[in-house]
Amino acid sequence: MITKRRTITAIDVGTCKVSTAIASLNQGKIELLGLSSLPSRGVRKGIIVNLSQAVECIRSCLEEAERQSGTVAESAFASVGGPYIVGVNSSGASEVLSGGSEIGSEDIQRAVEAARAFPLPDNSQLLHVLHRSFSVDGQEGISNPLGMQGRHLEANVHLILNASSAVNNLVNAINKTGVVVESVFAQHLAAGMATLSDDERELGSLFIDVGDGTTDVAIYRPGGICHSQSLPLGGGRITKDIAIGLKATLEEAESLKRSKVTVDLAGVPDGDLVEVIGAGNGQRQSLSRQLLCQIAQARCDEILHQVLEILQAQKIRKELLSRAIISGDGAMLEGFPERAQEILGLPARRGFPRNVVGPGHEACHPSWSTVLGLLLCARDFQSEMAGSPSSLNAPLSRLMPSRKVRNWFLGRLS
Ligand SMILES: Nc1ncnc2c1ncn2[C@@H]1O[C@H](COP(=O)(O)OP(=O)(O)OP(=O)(O)O)[C@@H](O)[C@H]1O
Ligand SMILES: [Mg+2]
Repeated sequence: MITKRRTITAIDVGTCKVSTAIASLNQGKIELLGLSSLPSRGVRKGIIVNLSQAVECIRSCLEEAERQSGTVAESAFASVGGPYIVGVNSSGASEVLSGGSEIGSEDIQRAVEAARAFPLPDNSQLLHVLHRSFSVDGQEGISNPLGMQGRHLEANVHLILNASSAVNNLVNAINKTGVVVESVFAQHLAAGMATLSDDERELGSLFIDVGDGTTDVAIYRPGGICHSQSLPLGGGRITKDIAIGLKATLEEAESLKRSKVTVDLAGVPDGDLVEVIGAGNGQRQSLSRQLLCQIAQARCDEILHQVLEILQAQKIRKELLSRAIISGDGAMLEGFPERAQEILGLPARRGFPRNVVGPGHEACHPSWSTVLGLLLCARDFQSEMAGSPSSLNAPLSRLMPSRKVRNWFLGRLS
């Protein structure tokens, strides 16, 4: 029987699949009650391109999670990714009101407000203001200046922007299913929340979410994220390359990619053959598996070289990063972490949502990282709204959507 009880609902609308999760919250502990995923419709490169198809798809996916959980979702937290996600660093200063004695929360707030007064490009929306560090009278690297003595306070923040239309269309699509969107979080933030260990966050690491249409990248340095960016390339391009290269259907190419491809070519014996059904004549033919893997490897390398270029452009030396964590279903490509290690020159591992579910849980898979990470974001959002401190190590303000966005959602809640 469907009952009403206090739960949190997360919705990840991706290019390849829509995922929903419903969980109950008990003293900050998340208990997963329902988890569902369906192939996406009406979404391209993380952006809604056909509203009615997307609405139907989200509705069906939600219904399944509701059925499993025996609850009805009334509001939800959603993730947004795609090519319009842009990260910008900014800083702002304030003179301490007490004139040299203790720094108060109002002083911090004014410095952060000054840092976020960034001229937004047209059709852009400020999604998150993530605190990175503060400096007090020129002394840098302070994580929390509250109660310290000083006259001049400076805040360094990382701003995450997205196209307003992308966010609005996502919110409208979810609202049309009868569920109110409480807040929206950047996809890579949510997935990073679920997969990174405290050490990886604190020491510095490179987070890569390989989706179907995009690859989202976030660079973590001590203090927080210092760069985020979305690349318009993902696992879908590898499938298309295979289909074109082997003259196969997209369906066949997808199946070959999942079952026969490794991008670690050393593991492919020379005379290995794969059976491929031709797209034109429907006839089976045997082709070299080496060729198949080379096609996939070329595109995989292109994605990883673009990630490397981001590190170079940001002047981040690999010695400053503990490792690369690769999430998203695209990360399931066999040999991907090994290839990442070789090209990026960093230890690499797949990102499992271990901060939400234990290693033996069936949902402990890179595929669920974003939607399960959203549950963590939701928990902290609700705890800050209730005025209690976040249960995470990172101060909640690092994750909260900007006040303008929050108010916008809250306006729709009332
Ligand atoms: N076992 C597998 N091996 C290789 N690739 C896989 C495997 N399973 C899924 N993929 C690929 O992962 C990609 C989909 O990843 P994911 O589901 O994370 O994307 P998405 O969140 O829907 O898209 P996006 O984040 O780009 O909007 C597809 O290209 C799919 O082919
Ligand atoms: Mg995704």
